[in-house]
Amino acid sequence: MTAADIQPLVALFSVPEVATWWPGENEPRLTARLEDADEGVGLVIEVDGTLMGFIQYFEEDDPEYRHASIDVVLHPDWCNRGLGTDAVRTLARHLFDDLGHHRLTIDPTVSNARAIASYRKVGFRDVGVMRRYERANDGTWRDSLLMDLLAEELLG
Ligand SMILES: CC(C)(COP(=O)(O)OP(=O)(O)OC[C@H]1O[C@@H](n2cnc3c(N)ncnc32)[C@H](O)[C@@H]1OP(=O)(O)O)[C@@H](O)C(=O)NCCC(=O)NCCS
Repeated sequence: MTAADIQPLVALFSVPEVATWWPGENEPRLTARLEDADEGVGLVIEVDGTLMGFIQYFEEDDPEYRHASIDVVLHPDWCNRGLGTDAVRTLARHLFDDLGHHRLTIDPTVSNARAIASYRKVGFRDVGVMRRYERANDGTWRDSLLMDLLAEELLG
């Protein structure tokens, strides 16, 4: 992502379905990602030059626990076409092959059946439910499913 992507991303995260599954995103947090890798590395997902999604990763660099985690969102007009799955698979390949990770995690809300189905297609496996892990936009805490993927398990 670049500074020019901030406003299109603010618009993306204001779409109700996007905000439901990815709460708490805003312009200051997006801007921080451009300036501080501790905030995660953000990448825009484009189709024919049009921004239609966002994907990010965080790296845990403690050598004893080294791994990376992924978050992804598409505009609803672009869901259910395999593009989100493709983006996660592509980023996973980069994290394994180029950045040398051996393990990735992803943590969809337990009720997000589509996201869980998508990540299973990439090879992610269920680890367990993290109870009251994430605060939803209505202020309540909700459960997330921790999933992980080892390098040799990547599918496709
Ligand atoms: C989650 C997301 C990234 C997946 O990307 P995508 O391109 O839409 O996913 P795909 O089209 O490759 O696959 C979706 C799969 O879920 C299945 N699916 C769709 N709706 C479903 C539902 N309600 N219950 C169970 N499975 C469902 C589809 O059948 C498909 O599986 P199949 O290919 O075996 O038929 C994308 O839908 C998205 O951004 N959604 C909104 C935001 C979001 O949920 N972000 C994730 C937060 S963790």
